[in-house]
Amino acid sequence: MASSILVFLLVSALCLLSSPAPAVAQNLPPIVNGLSFTFYKSSCPKLESIVRDFLNKQFEKDIGLAAGLLRIHFHDCFVQGCDGSVLLDGSASGPSEQDAPPNLTLRPAAFQAINDLRALIDGQCGRVVSCADVVALAARDSVVLSGGPSYKVPLGRRDGVTFATRNATLASLPAPTFNVTQILPVLSLINLDADDLVALSGGHTIGRGHCSSFSNRIFPSRDPTMDQTFFNNLRDTCPASDTNATTSLDIRSPNVFDNKYYVDLMNRQGLFTSDENLYFDSRTKSLVLDFALNQTLFFEKFAFSMVKMGQLGVLTGGNGEIRANCSARNGGKISMWPVIDQHGEQTAAF
Ligand code: HEM
Ligand SMILES: *[C@@H]1O[C@H](CO)[C@@H](O)[C@H](O)[C@H]1NC(C)=O
Ligand SMILES: *[C@@H]1O[C@H](CO)[C@@H](O)[C@H](O)[C@H]1NC(C)=O
Ligand SMILES: *[C@@H]1O[C@H](CO)[C@@H](O)[C@H](O)[C@H]1NC(C)=O
Ligand SMILES: *[C@@H]1O[C@H](CO)[C@@H](O)[C@H](O)[C@H]1NC(C)=O
Ligand SMILES: *[C@@H]1O[C@H](CO)[C@@H](O)[C@H](O)[C@H]1NC(C)=O
Ligand SMILES: *[C@@H]1O[C@H](CO)[C@@H](O)[C@H](O)[C@H]1NC(C)=O
Repeated sequence: MASSILVFLLVSALCLLSSPAPAVAQNLPPIVNGLSFTFYKSSCPKLESIVRDFLNKQFEKDIGLAAGLLRIHFHDCFVQGCDGSVLLDGSASGPSEQDAPPNLTLRPAAFQAINDLRALIDGQCGRVVSCADVVALAARDSVVLSGGPSYKVPLGRRDGVTFATRNATLASLPAPTFNVTQILPVLSLINLDADDLVALSGGHTIGRGHCSSFSNRIFPSRDPTMDQTFFNNLRDTCPASDTNATTSLDIRSPNVFDNKYYVDLMNRQGLFTSDENLYFDSRTKSLVLDFALNQTLFFEKFAFSMVKMGQLGVLTGGNGEIRANCSARNGGKISMWPVIDQHGEQTAAF
């Protein structure tokens, strides 16, 4: 206990020393063919400010929405690529599924926000912006408006026409009960590595988790890698393994996008096995320490890995469609709607 307080004080002191730079990522992964930063420059020039202004207002009412939107982008990209399939009514993790894997639904308010955004965007630009791009922009703005780094989002994703099956969803998303040894193979299937895992897990600096997501660590007894006081508090919140209650993912600053999540891990106060084990596995531990000591470094690496994740399995050009309704495919058939590409040329989608 005394030692964990010492670590906390030391880390806090070092954090004060490192300057809180604006942290705009300079170092980006390669941009996938067909995506660009200027994709909607002529077809929807106000796109980014529409998204930013709308979310800014929504977050004043409910900051938890930011966590919900960030998580939707993660689920979208990990399951058959960032194609908006997570938004489809009928997808295994889609908005209408109540007990689909991974069991706990994504926040309904986040799905609603994406649909509201699309209506706003369509009102100004017509149906030119994909739902998958709206999800990617909303995730970035959730990070920024919670205090995290800004980064440029490559755009031009198109929406998928296939549902995510239950099996694909289960196979693509690591479980919170997984340790690093179990998670890395899942990530390597989509070319993400241990550094990406440490950086992206920093998304757990905001948001909440339900008892059932960490009951493996408190029942029947305390996971020995968990701090005793933290454990006592979790058992108060979740007296039984199936209690329907939630707790913050980052106890130090639950609604602020910062590097405190890594300080939690150093103090054995990470919530899930998949979190805490990052501090105990030799492949991930040193980066956890680096991020706990240097928020600027975390912000840079997070932005880098988010852009990488945001380009997984994207549909571009004439593939996929621009959905009229983010929750449903366009009338069974793939759209004949003309799209304007980044050079301003008309290209027929087929
Ligand atoms: C090893 C990979 C990951 C695992 C096992 C995992 C697991 C989970 C689980 C179990 C929850 C809580 C669900 C609940 O009980 O309500 C959660 C929440 C969350 N996750 Fe992850 N996650 C992972 C990666 C990510 C990534 C890459 C991001 C984004 C960059 C992310 C962002 C979030 C956010 C923001 C929440 C809070 C959602 C809310 O408050 O509604 N996670 N995650
Ligand atoms: C959660 O999903 C898994 C995998 O499909 C399933 O085995 C388990 O029974 C589900 N749990 C609940 C509480 O629905
Ligand atoms: C889904 O996975 C289960 C268990 O791995 C398997 O038995 C089943 O056949 C799969 N279903 C489909 C549709 O692939
Ligand atoms: C990770 O979890 C698996 C499955 O529970 C277990 O067999 C393995 O020993 C664990 N690895 C480490 C390094 O803890
Ligand atoms: C959990 O509690 C919330 C709020 O009280 C409720 O809306 C939800 O339906 C409950 N979920 C389950 C699975 O009982
Ligand atoms: C923190 O990381 C940034 C970005 O990599 C680096 O420029 C800076 O020197 C680091 N600060 C410290 C105190 O190590
Ligand atoms: C969008 O699609 C969903 C799922 O099919 C449907 O429930 C909803 O009413 C549709 N919304 C609009 C505005 O058409």
